[in-house]
Amino acid sequence: MGALPWLLLFLLLQGAKGNSGDDADTEEVVAILQESISLPLEIPPDEEVENIIWSSQRRLAMVMPGKEGQPATITVIDPHYRGRVSFLEPSYSLYISNVSWKDAGCYEAEVNMRTAQLSTTQLYNLRVYQRLLKPRITVNFEISGEGSCNMSLTCFVERGGMDVTYSWLSWGDSAGTAHEGPILRTSWRPGDSALSYTCRVSNPISNISSHPIPAGSFCADPGYPEKSSTVFCLLAKGLLLLLLLVILVVSLWVIRVYKMPRMRYLKRNRMRLRKRAKAGPSPA
Ligand SMILES: *[C@@H]1O[C@H](CO)[C@@H](O)[C@H](O)[C@H]1NC(C)=O
Ligand SMILES: *[C@@H]1O[C@H](CO)[C@@H](O)[C@H](O)[C@H]1NC(C)=O
Ligand SMILES: *[C@@H]1O[C@H](CO)[C@@H](O)[C@H](O)[C@H]1NC(C)=O
Repeated sequence: MGALPWLLLFLLLQGAKGNSGDDADTEEVVAILQESISLPLEIPPDEEVENIIWSSQRRLAMVMPGKEGQPATITVIDPHYRGRVSFLEPSYSLYISNVSWKDAGCYEAEVNMRTAQLSTTQLYNLRVYQRLLKPRITVNFEISGEGSCNMSLTCFVERGGMDVTYSWLSWGDSAGTAHEGPILRTSWRPGDSALSYTCRVSNPISNISSHPIPAGSFCADPGYPEKSSTVFCLLAKGLLLLLLLVILVVSLWVIRVYKMPRMRYLKRNRMRLRKRAKAGPSPA
């Protein structure tokens, strides 16, 4: 009497839980590529566990706790995890070392009790991320007649993967302002304060900022940074060559001018000597 309705209610509740509970009961776990992660499992303390079946896309491993202090019997079924998984006592949480991209996805732990023929299921969603590299910036700018300048700064991170967020921070005005997204459009006029922009990229496990980009320097000096310096370099080399040439010409000319009168003077002396030599013996 009364047992059947209770059983029906129990089955209904189980059914309802099975339909709606999947998302709500799923534990989100975030792992770092090539590092370790554990999927924590809780088992009812007063129940004796027959076995625990861990599955991902397919059956991953089975753990049978030992009786009376004996070690557990562990069978790793999926070869993808062989040698990389262990089960942390006392609840046999799944511990994965050297996490790979392929490890991402849904996991399930099914805990079967010895008594009462009951089982509980815990679901996990494992997401794998890599530590982000320093972002790269490209700058496009357009200068109008009055020297005002429209700029777009684009931030890009290599091998960023999923869930990367970009934000731009400006430095130099009174309050550092932020802008969300990989592209920042801004304008600059001569006389504006010298703003610098940095891009910060972040994902659930890391964040890193770019070098500061000085905004005005692109607009005030359109060749910034390489163009102007190469022009300057060429100009300097040309000037140096010209200077050397001038020195050469001037020195040649000086030598000529300095030598010519001495040669004439010598010639004159020689002529005088000759005249004297001719005149010398005549009075004798
Ligand atoms: C981790 O796994 C990658 C391949 O996924 C392998 O190249 C690397 O050597 C492994 N590292 C360690 C410490 O086992
Ligand atoms: C800069 O952008 C504004 C609108 O944001 C536009 O009206 C203006 O013509 C642009 N100037 C240049 C030089 O592109
Ligand atoms: C950025 O990463 C550092 C550790 O590198 C962390 O302390 C900080 O909270 C993170 N900031 C944000 C906004 O994620």
